[in-house]
Amino acid sequence: MSIARKLREKIDHAIIRFARRLEPSPVDAYGERTMMYVPQADSSQPNAFLLDLALRAIEQARDISLSEISARRKPTATDYPDLWPGEHYRLLAALILVLRPLTVVEIGTYHGLSALALTKFLPAPGRVFTFDIIPWSEFPDTCLRKEDFLDGRLIQILGNLGDKVVFDAHHELLAKADLIFLDAPKDGVFEREFLGGLAKLGDARSKILVFDDIRTWKMLAIWREITLPKLDLTSFGHWTGTGLVHWTNGGCSQGS
Ligand SMILES: C[S@@+](CC[C@H](N)C(=O)[O-])C[C@H]1O[C@@H](n2cnc3c(N)ncnc32)[C@H](O)[C@@H]1O
Repeated sequence: MSIARKLREKIDHAIIRFARRLEPSPVDAYGERTMMYVPQADSSQPNAFLLDLALRAIEQARDISLSEISARRKPTATDYPDLWPGEHYRLLAALILVLRPLTVVEIGTYHGLSALALTKFLPAPGRVFTFDIIPWSEFPDTCLRKEDFLDGRLIQILGNLGDKVVFDAHHELLAKADLIFLDAPKDGVFEREFLGGLAKLGDARSKILVFDDIRTWKMLAIWREITLPKLDLTSFGHWTGTGLVHWTNGGCSQGS
């Protein structure tokens, strides 16, 4: 991380601490600051495809059990695959059931909980490509096992898609992806550049983008700026914000 970025983060944290003192949380629980905005001037609205997708995914998520993934959690873990709504894991699994994608890209493997949720109902011959800058095996609390990668349905790729060279190296994969789950680094900068990179892909399939943490401070502006059809599905996803985008190259729908 650059010195300027480290300094910016320190200043941000100091401002957040100051704001907390000025106006303490009215609720005695861990929380994060956010803002709410009038919808009239937002850059876009959901389309019929997103509304139908959300309804069908919610219906599926209600009855999904991820108990075998929950059983892999370490006692210290703070993510709960079966807590729904509140966590995004059952919604992710439901999106796979409804969309039946063949190519899924995840950005941010971490302990592997979402990678496992995305893989659970993946139809053959589908594959989930999960990107991280740190190998899954280097997280002491990982929920992944070597055998998860044996049949080739789940593949980890190491690399920062915010780096143009890495992005270009994977442009074919990104172009053919049916679903992309963006769960890193969620600083608003990466996401803006990633969307810019997608827009430059020539012959790309239309796809669903799932953004995590859209209600967190750094993601508020980028979420608001997206002009493609989008739907804030936070009440049925992650408490920090879950957003769906119907991405089509040039804004014209090719059908997902
Ligand atoms: C919030 S965690 C992902 C959680 C996971 N998707 C889940 O829901 O279980 C974020 C992960 O993104 C990784 N990461 C951070 N910056 C990244 C980048 N530019 N490209 C890929 N991964 C990145 C971090 O190493 C970390 O493992």
